[in-house]
Amino acid sequence: MLEKERNETLMNVGANTPMGNLLRRYWMPIGAISEFDNKETKPIRLMGEDLVLYKDKSGTFGLIDRHCPHRRADLSYGYAEECGLRCNYHGWLFNQDGNCIAQPFEDTVDTEHKLRETIKIINYPVEEKGGLVWAYLGPKPVPLVPNYEPFSWQNGFVQIVMTEIPCNWLQCQENSCDPVHFEWMHSNWSSRLSGEANVYAPTHLELDFEEFEWGISYKRVREDTDKNHPLWTIGRHCLWPNALYTGDHFEWRIPIDDENTMSIGWFFNRVPNDCEPYVQDSIPHWYGPLVDEETGRWITSHVMNQDFVAWVGQGIQADRTKENLGRSDRGIAMVRKRFLDDLKRIENGKDPKAIVRDEKLNKCIKFPLIGYERMINGYPRELLEDKENIFMRATRNFVFQAGQPDHVKTAYEEALGIKMDERF
Ligand code: FES
Ligand SMILES: [Fe+2]
Repeated sequence: MLEKERNETLMNVGANTPMGNLLRRYWMPIGAISEFDNKETKPIRLMGEDLVLYKDKSGTFGLIDRHCPHRRADLSYGYAEECGLRCNYHGWLFNQDGNCIAQPFEDTVDTEHKLRETIKIINYPVEEKGGLVWAYLGPKPVPLVPNYEPFSWQNGFVQIVMTEIPCNWLQCQENSCDPVHFEWMHSNWSSRLSGEANVYAPTHLELDFEEFEWGISYKRVREDTDKNHPLWTIGRHCLWPNALYTGDHFEWRIPIDDENTMSIGWFFNRVPNDCEPYVQDSIPHWYGPLVDEETGRWITSHVMNQDFVAWVGQGIQADRTKENLGRSDRGIAMVRKRFLDDLKRIENGKDPKAIVRDEKLNKCIKFPLIGYERMINGYPRELLEDKENIFMRATRNFVFQAGQPDHVKTAYEEALGIKMDERF
């Protein structure tokens, strides 16, 4: 359990809160580049701040205040110009650095632009990486967007999936360091949901958690594995400060505010060798549904939807004064302790964990990954068709989130030369 005050410290992310200050020191993915193929603006609430992300006609992204500093109109209804975003109310124009670069009527009557020069709109740096748009809301000097190795992998089909979850970000992120839930929430619950009674996945026998440069790794031995298995020798990674990496995908938990979180998944599926070379022109994105429209209940059919059920079930903000941690929760205790320690580090003017400032290091951030060889070198088609191969199940179908649109499914099938399984 965690006392009330610490719980609130760790959860709340507004500007000038301790955790808000800490999380603002990291770049956060906030959307997909392909979202702007057919729109110019996207309203975004990020760590309690209402903003608008836009792409101007020159192709430059900007992230600025949602409200115009003239008379507060909603800039997500603004329109992009060659440079900047123009307010749709009286035409004031802002660029990505927050400067007001045109004030049509004022410019006509005051050629010295006295008012214009006093205007600055809230603005934050934006970068593109891995098909994602990233934002940084923290103090200067601005660190580097982490250049994780999978962003440079070739011959893969990537898709970005986003879902807004109505609960606090921390309970989502704690799930990134919780190996035992795989057995119960994914394996065994999926069996029950598909009508299989009395079928139990191999149970967990031993766990280990290890802090490394970019996060905390968790390792496990199950009834069907031993300490030579990659689940123990490599493990999976809770990435700092708010992501999970499992071997073929990232999941970020981006705080919208204290009570809502944007789940952003980035999925990489290597094509089989006979489909090489494969070059993806544009990385598709989609918004995954949360609620089953027929029943009004949460969707439970897919892996991350099952996780979402756990997170929202813990309450809008989990009351950690009422929990009882066991030995399976050592990773969760480590996550909390690291954040609390890092709050002290930033008070003392130091960087928290996993801030990237070294260009050389950031050429490619590598860490050991289960299935690495297959991601780099590919695999023969026979492996893809081997129904007994559990790792290939997630390649033959999109098991992670419900609602994959047909155009993404079709593009995926074309890339891998398969027909996806009918199970979902
Ligand atoms: S409110 Fe935006 S230009 Fe007037
Ligand atoms: Fe999970």
